Amino acid sequence: MSTTAADAVSGVTTGAGARPTWSTRLAFILAAAGSSVGLGNIWKFPYITGEYGGGAFVLFYLGCIAAIGLPVMMTEVMLGRRARRSPIGAMRYNSETETGGHRWGVVGIIATVTAFIILSFYSVVAGWALPFVVHAVGGAFTGASAEEIGGLFGSLVSSPGELTIWHTLFMLLTVGVSAAGVRAGVERAVRWLMPALAVMLLMLVGYNVANGAMGEAVAFLFQPDFSKLSAEGMLAAMGHSFFTLSLASGAMMAYGSYLPGNASIARASVTVAIMDTVIALTAGLAIFPIVFGNGLEPGAGPGLVFQTLPIAFGKMPGGVFFGTLFFVLLVVAAWTSSLSMLESQAAWLEEKGLSRSTGAIVAGVAAWLVGMTTVFSLNIWSDFAPLDAVPMFEGKTLFDIYDFLTANIFMPLGGLLMAVFAGWVMSRKASAEALGMPEWLYRVWLVIMRFVAPAAILVIFVANFAG
Ligand code: PFF
Repeated sequence: MSTTAADAVSGVTTGAGARPTWSTRLAFILAAAGSSVGLGNIWKFPYITGEYGGGAFVLFYLGCIAAIGLPVMMTEVMLGRRARRSPIGAMRYNSETETGGHRWGVVGIIATVTAFIILSFYSVVAGWALPFVVHAVGGAFTGASAEEIGGLFGSLVSSPGELTIWHTLFMLLTVGVSAAGVRAGVERAVRWLMPALAVMLLMLVGYNVANGAMGEAVAFLFQPDFSKLSAEGMLAAMGHSFFTLSLASGAMMAYGSYLPGNASIARASVTVAIMDTVIALTAGLAIFPIVFGNGLEPGAGPGLVFQTLPIAFGKMPGGVFFGTLFFVLLVVAAWTSSLSMLESQAAWLEEKGLSRSTGAIVAGVAAWLVGMTTVFSLNIWSDFAPLDAVPMFEGKTLFDIYDFLTANIFMPLGGLLMAVFAGWVMSRKASAEALGMPEWLYRVWLVIMRFVAPAAILVIFVANFAG
């Protein structure tokens, strides 16, 4: 089975269904779950939930996952499997077979550019977790106050040199595995990683039940107060539903292109979406009781997870061990996500005639360079807001701009275009055949692609950008 897993995710398996379905489907689920569970769940979800006021934002986010994200995931996997090419190649192929022209290939380009930009800053943020492994091992959290922990994070982000080292190291991990074609090894780690991560988060939740402000956190996360939900919050929730499921960035399309023809797209997508959501909500319950219990600010921003969890590790028995394990797991979770971001670009460069390893190196070096601008935007360029004149980008640093542009604009736009393509441009015969779903489910999917997803995305866009 292990060779099957390796083949399926490295693209060696081209004959659809040539291998036992159960093991290849598992390989796909592992790779897709590895892609979707990452910093988005543990770093981004809690901090944007804090910024956008909690309950109502969470509920809206869950609605977006179920009504838009999950069906779009099915679409994206289907488009990839149907074409068996890189995302750019796949959208061109699908466009050509359905319209005779390759105009819709632009959707693949948007997705690949999105993955590239995300990879550039994702590597910097994943790099934050590496020194926290070192801190945890060295016992730096033991008995530390919230201020002292905050200081650890503060001194990290204010140092361009340190950030560069960790960013470089993380990018090397990503490019190295992708170039060497041993990604299946990392992806197989998802099998124990995901349960281990879930157990670690549950342990923190357990710790919080005894020591944290659990009641306050539960109320914050699950009691919706819709007066707190702004149009901007809705856009962020929708954007995050795409980000956390790795949608509209080619990752799911690339992985779908290795999926055997007879595997159930619907079942695999539902499994991945459920895992992803459970991990995000558990991370919320691990973090917010510590926030409220220590008088911290829920809207503290991107440093939230790094400023909260170490407080608990510093106080609990076995905290050195658990703290170390947690940050190692966080790095691996980010790693399996960053591999999938690189995949869309590496696969495309491979189609263009580069070798697999050259493609991965070229894309990785370019993303590393762009990532350096994120490194500087955290310190020496922290007052540099290049698009200040545009209201939407007012006060945003380069890092903020990359994040906003990808999650809140490119991803929903890419999702909208994929939905329109699959729902309106593709013939029903082609989409039904490529999805291979029961009739009733296909009908639900079609209504979502044709009406629900485009309307929801457009309404939220208009509410944010018109006037
Ligand atoms: N889903 C990943 C996370 O939640 O951390 C982020 C991500 C991975 C986005 C892969 C896009 C992508 F192509």
